[in-house]
Amino acid sequence: MLTPIRNQSRPIGMFDSGFGGLTVARAVIDLLPDQDLVYFGDTGRYPYGPRPQEEVRAFSLQIARYLRRKYRIKLLVVACNTASAAALAALRRELDIPVVGVIDPGLRAATTVTRTGRVGVIGTVGTIGSGAYEQALTAMTGTGGANGVPTGPGDAPGTRLSTAACPGLVEFVERGETGGESVTLLVRRLLAPLIEARVDTLLLGCTHYPYLARVLSDVMGREVVLVSSADETAFEVRDLLVEDRNPGRVGRHTFVSSGDSGVFETIGRRLFGAELVGAVEHRWDTETWD
Ligand code: DGL
Repeated sequence: MLTPIRNQSRPIGMFDSGFGGLTVARAVIDLLPDQDLVYFGDTGRYPYGPRPQEEVRAFSLQIARYLRRKYRIKLLVVACNTASAAALAALRRELDIPVVGVIDPGLRAATTVTRTGRVGVIGTVGTIGSGAYEQALTAMTGTGGANGVPTGPGDAPGTRLSTAACPGLVEFVERGETGGESVTLLVRRLLAPLIEARVDTLLLGCTHYPYLARVLSDVMGREVVLVSSADETAFEVRDLLVEDRNPGRVGRHTFVSSGDSGVFETIGRRLFGAELVGAVEHRWDTETWD
């Protein structure tokens, strides 16, 4: 159990491989407008999905150290499922501040919403291959839950997960392409097994996917509820900051990118909105990874 943070006028730190975590940033900013936030998009090294877990873990630790040192963050939000699956435990071991991931919050939201217990989870190859959602469901219910295996009584009685890796979707979002024929064709092919499994809830297990919500919903059908981890993650952050609020204050938001900051600002504004201004460029030093 994490201890609430008190009286620290330091920013919340948040990171993703690129633009996906902005969906979580939006929810956190809307819920906690008084808080300062530093968002790091590792666009110089995206995508994380196809990379080995150890590499994603190393990247995550580098970003966390950088945010801690340079911005003195008080809390870290891992706004990326791939990084949450690969690095949450390592980050919690190393950092002396609370670390919030997106897998448990998303799963909590999905198990609350489902009526039939048939939940589809889509994510990157790294996230789905890691089995992180099945493990999280097991931890939540105390029993199994992997593809098709019913769980026992618990917080999510009878929830069954059908998972599907969706290589290629993140790349569309990183280009700012959130609709159109090519993405629709790909989504149709990738989601076919979940339609077959007759899921009633689709958990967007990659923070980039809410930007594709219209296409995903069109393909799954209106009766399937789409769930993202963003709001539930923001609630978890709020709970940690209950004693660290400053009503009426307007928080400052800083956006840092390890790739071209001009591109980050242009595509980021399209996805996130006009408040994304003055993106800072942080190129990794390839010797010190600082
Ligand atoms: N937004 C990320 C996630 O939630 C990552 C994607 C990627 O870089 O492949 O998994």
